[in-house]
Amino acid sequence: MLNFEFRNPTKILFGKGQIANLAKEIPAGAKLLMLYGGGSIKQNGIYDQVKSALQGFDVLEFGGIPANPEYEVLLNALKVIKDEKINFMLAVGGGSVIDGVKFLSSAALYEGDNPWDILSQRIVTKKGLPFGTVLTLPATASEMNSGAVISRHETQEKFSMGGPGLFPQFSVLDPQVVASVPKRQIANGITDAFTHVMEQYMTYPIGALLQDRIAESIMQTLVEVAPKVVKDPSDYEAAANFMWSCTMALNGLIQKGVPTDWAVHAMGHELTALFGIDHARTLAIIAPSHYRYNFNGKKEKLAQYAERVWNITSGTTDEKAEAGIKATEDFFHSLDINTRLSEYTGDFKGTAQTISQKFIERGWNGIGERKDLTPSDVEKIVEMSY
Ligand code: NZQ
Ligand code: ZN
Repeated sequence: MLNFEFRNPTKILFGKGQIANLAKEIPAGAKLLMLYGGGSIKQNGIYDQVKSALQGFDVLEFGGIPANPEYEVLLNALKVIKDEKINFMLAVGGGSVIDGVKFLSSAALYEGDNPWDILSQRIVTKKGLPFGTVLTLPATASEMNSGAVISRHETQEKFSMGGPGLFPQFSVLDPQVVASVPKRQIANGITDAFTHVMEQYMTYPIGALLQDRIAESIMQTLVEVAPKVVKDPSDYEAAANFMWSCTMALNGLIQKGVPTDWAVHAMGHELTALFGIDHARTLAIIAPSHYRYNFNGKKEKLAQYAERVWNITSGTTDEKAEAGIKATEDFFHSLDINTRLSEYTGDFKGTAQTISQKFIERGWNGIGERKDLTPSDVEKIVEMSY
């Protein structure tokens, strides 16, 4: 096992009716900005629950943060924060709203001239404007981690940011919110969380027995609850297990002491930036090709995964490893998630070259757990995903 430090300061309020308890987590007298997305919270009752919990606070609102939170929209919110001297934010939404608020948390205290530098120059945020979240869509774990991903339409870029100053102070996780989530987004959430675990697990053996078992148990739980929550998102028990699995998949715990990959996300983000494909679906497109291309370096963990998550116990290491990849594809298909780029766009020719060129320009010369995947490897993996 590798050395590590672990700290996660986010307080979780989990369960039925917890939205009503959020006021006690916000400092008295705070000048509050509540931020949300395209308006789903006004249809499903979450907006009303939050507003009633916030009675007595001085609250302004900023709605309209789109999926794949857009930099230009966030700059409008940044102006509100500065003009109105906001000192606490409340994100009410999925990963996009929470990530948008993390960018604002960093940008509000940023002393440079151009907030885009936080993303393009990967500036680590040590201190941010404090914020809490009310999660409306299990998927990203942004509610309990310190990372964010921001898109910029103008330049077709999608960049990550983060730092120890960007953990939410608290997050409210009421699984009842899942009841209103459309099937497409539930499938996305399962796929995203499942891939988060794979990115931190499908590397090479490092003797981290507990981390492996926790990772495998999150994947097994997602596989177990997926059909239930897809069939009936108001099934509270399924929704609760789905929600907590998504949070646990990327709250930092399972990546401690182990090598991590994240190449699937790096390539996937480019597909969202180029074609607007949902984040989770880009991962389902890239992951099978990535694991086949890097088969030799990953086959031991692939075979362990096949055995422990999918009960594939017969065959050689190579056979089990390939069967594990196939089982993953079948799992995504069972959620109605396509795993080929050509199933999402007819305009895919040249995508692999475009992406590898972007990686060259940014100096991303070695990604993956061994930092040895070059832009030319990236080109081949994306091409295999057509
Ligand atoms: O905008 P509204 O009206 O809220 O509708 C949203 C949106 O259209 C809707 N929705 C959310 N909760 C709902 C609901 N509809 C009905 N009922 C509810 N209770 O769902 C749609 C998608 O929302 P979004 O927040 O975009 O989805 P998700 O949570 O999957 O977030 C995706 C974003 O997170 C980033 C992705 O790249 C993408 O930009 N990620 C963030 C990560 C992180 N911070 O750690 C890690 C991930 O790997 C990922 O990259
Ligand atoms: Zn993801």
